[in-house]
Amino acid sequence: MAQVAALLTYLKSITRIQTFSVMVLFFSLILIVFYMTVQVETTHSLRSVRTQFPQQKGITRHVHLHNVSAGFRQTIPKSRAYWNRLLYSALMNLDKGGNPFNQNSNWSNCRLTNQEFLQINVHDFSSYPVQFWDFLEGMNCRTAPILIDQPNKCAFSKRKTESHTLLLFAIKSSPRNFERRQAVRETWGREMTYPNGLEVRMVFLLGSSPPQDPDLTPLLSFEAKLYGDILQWDFHETFLNLTLKMNMLLDWTLKSCPHVSFVFSGDDDVFVNTPALVRYIESLEASKVSSLYAGHVISAGSPLRDSNSKYYIPMSFYDGPYPPYAGGGGYLISGALLESLYSLLHIIPFFPIDDAYVGMCFMALGISPEAHSGFQTFDIRAEDREDLCAYKNLILVHQRSPQELKKLWKGINSSLLAC
Ligand SMILES: *[C@@H]1O[C@H](CO)[C@@H](O)[C@H](O)[C@H]1NC(C)=O
Ligand SMILES: *[C@@H]1O[C@H](CO)[C@@H](O)[C@H](O)[C@H]1NC(C)=O
Ligand SMILES: *[C@@H]1O[C@H](CO)[C@@H](O)[C@H](O)[C@H]1NC(C)=O
Ligand SMILES: *[C@@H]1O[C@H](CO)[C@@H](O)[C@H](O)[C@H]1NC(C)=O
Repeated sequence: MAQVAALLTYLKSITRIQTFSVMVLFFSLILIVFYMTVQVETTHSLRSVRTQFPQQKGITRHVHLHNVSAGFRQTIPKSRAYWNRLLYSALMNLDKGGNPFNQNSNWSNCRLTNQEFLQINVHDFSSYPVQFWDFLEGMNCRTAPILIDQPNKCAFSKRKTESHTLLLFAIKSSPRNFERRQAVRETWGREMTYPNGLEVRMVFLLGSSPPQDPDLTPLLSFEAKLYGDILQWDFHETFLNLTLKMNMLLDWTLKSCPHVSFVFSGDDDVFVNTPALVRYIESLEASKVSSLYAGHVISAGSPLRDSNSKYYIPMSFYDGPYPPYAGGGGYLISGALLESLYSLLHIIPFFPIDDAYVGMCFMALGISPEAHSGFQTFDIRAEDREDLCAYKNLILVHQRSPQELKKLWKGINSSLLAC
């Protein structure tokens, strides 16, 4: 207040024009200070995530909250970038004993409708790509209604939890990718029991087609009935909704496949050498069985700042490195980790790039990704691509066409293959 009094005394001593300019300067300063201190908490805390699992047949499961590791807190800078501020406000809430699951969130009104809020909190919001605006507005929408469910996918294994190892393939697909799904079903994704008792189950994860696309609903219902492996949720199938898809996968698995031993999350255009994956699982040490996050590890990634890139992350949105993460083409997670991971997805604000985000959540859990050279999400050397022997010990290669999947699958299983 002393400064204000001094300023007023000063104002009296100068001419009207000077007074005017000083007043303008003074109010600009006040405005700047005001905007700088506007905290994102106020609106954020009102719009956090929903509680527990959707009620199913009278069972309500409570998710145990996992703390966020000191390592993660040290890795992500406390900067003024929007996501960083959301994170630290969520951590403050967590450390005060707040439970993000207790905050009500409703799919029909979770979106941020007040664009002014974003314009105030992100100084160059207007320069963001349109799909990024959309992402920011929907960041608190974490639970979408399910359109096509497979509630009995893991039913058989529930009865034999002790003796069975269950591997669930959870493959990100989209409504129009029928041919790719069919190739996966006919090859590496076939539901079967491997010789030593490891059971493989398959689900394809789909969003809904945008309104401008032809309506594939009747075909999808038919496909879902015929194969029993389609999961679809009521959100648009877009790249920036993949983090939401991951959250829905965890939500669904904890509810409908709670005894799963391993989940393999991957794309529908990869080739997986399932026998090699099964061998890898069988070779794991007991301690790894319950704490695995394995794949092709990208260890020193950082956000791309080129606004033309699919992976563009504006500086004013996120500031910091990417923790080591397993490339999203395909990675393997222990079933025992799913619940803790799910709780972290509700604490850490959604991030536009799903695989980097999963890496963040694992770091928050205190688990580092396990690098395995059999996961080749950037493909193998061009000169080896036609050589079947090169695939014999690989676990995953990205990317292959449906026709190539069939050829490779037949090839690696041939008794004539001598390497
Ligand atoms: C969670 O972790 C943070 C940082 O390591 C620590 O300060 C805090 O006390 C922990 N909270 C609980 C409930 O353990
Ligand atoms: C969600 O919001 C809609 C509209 O605002 C309301 O009709 C509905 O009852 C709400 N659902 C829950 C579970 O709160
Ligand atoms: C995600 O899905 C929701 C629900 O359909 C949609 O409104 C939104 O535009 C999508 N978000 C992005 C970033 O594509
Ligand atoms: C591999 O080929 C044999 C026949 O040669 C067949 O019985 C078996 O089912 C095939 N394995 C897989 C995983 O397709």
